[in-house]
Amino acid sequence: MKVNGKNTQTIWYDKDLDIVKIIDQRYLPFKFIIKDIKTLNDSIRAIKEMMVRGAPLIGVTAAYGMYLASKENKSIESLKLAGDALKESRPTAVNLQWAVDKILKSLSKIKINDIPENVLKIANSIRENDIEACNKIGENGLSILKSIHDHKKDKINILTHCNAGWLAAVDWGTALAPVYKAHRSGIPVHVWVDETRPRNQGFNLTAWELMNEGIPCSLIVDNTGGHLMQKNMVDVCITGTDRTTANGDVCNKIGTYLKALAAKDNNIPFYVAAPISSIDFKISDGLKEIPIEIRDEKEISHIMGLNKEGKIETFQAVPSKSKCINYAFDVTPAKYITKIITEKKVVEPNKKSILTLLNNEN
Ligand code: MRU
Repeated sequence: MKVNGKNTQTIWYDKDLDIVKIIDQRYLPFKFIIKDIKTLNDSIRAIKEMMVRGAPLIGVTAAYGMYLASKENKSIESLKLAGDALKESRPTAVNLQWAVDKILKSLSKIKINDIPENVLKIANSIRENDIEACNKIGENGLSILKSIHDHKKDKINILTHCNAGWLAAVDWGTALAPVYKAHRSGIPVHVWVDETRPRNQGFNLTAWELMNEGIPCSLIVDNTGGHLMQKNMVDVCITGTDRTTANGDVCNKIGTYLKALAAKDNNIPFYVAAPISSIDFKISDGLKEIPIEIRDEKEISHIMGLNKEGKIETFQAVPSKSKCINYAFDVTPAKYITKIITEKKVVEPNKKSILTLLNNEN
């Protein structure tokens, strides 16, 4: 998608330098920085410190992390340890485990000297497949937005939470892909962008993405969505997911559940857009089985912004020594979800429908 009019992606392999490059998202929207990832430890740091974030992008970064690890030590033993370290770097998003396991599984029949080349091949294909999956999610979601527009015959108001745009994937994104496609096909759209405390992925990333694409959007604080829904100012909600269970429970950025409750109360459709790699087919009870990351208190107590001189600064926003607890995700039970938009098709949030996605998968 576009940054200052130029097509840009979040992560790529630089063949000449034999390293990986990423957009360092920690300083967006104020600074656009490209960072070199040269080692396994660089990859782990990039995921842990949220230079990259968003479930699909974390998965792709982990895949390249396995390649960089294989250059350091080709043995399967050592790659298993690298995989464990990557998996621990962010526990909630399932794409990370999925990417690591996909690579480990592929190694059994490969001669040791060929391992790095093969791991790179798979990492590149995970990256390419992510782009294609998000493109198709966009097309499948576009049909939904089209029918809302055909019915309303006026601009459609879409509410989204956190960042599930191209910055959360390689390109296109998940929840925002249908929005980009709708805008490009001439459907008038306007997006309500939840701030998404504490890290403000909505303010910092989603708004920046949408503005770069010329899509009308308004920033709102996290508590505004319910009011807008009561006033008929939201036609549809679309969010991403970090992990969705086989029965359709959706784990996503903290605050998603409250939006889904408000949407239900106001008869507003609540869609979740996800590549199949974000579905954890092994589990069925999101509340019991998905580990919820608890992040640094500082994400709550401190806020990044620009000072008077226009320099990035981090400000303390609460009384010193305040105790903060920073749950990063919540689980929205399947009964509050209208449908799940995947790259294959749009499915119902139940086991029967979700399991049909496994046909011909992997
Ligand atoms: O903590 P983050 O920024 O990695 O959070 C993940 C997300 O970006 C969101 O929860 C998103 O909605 C799902 S990932 C496409």
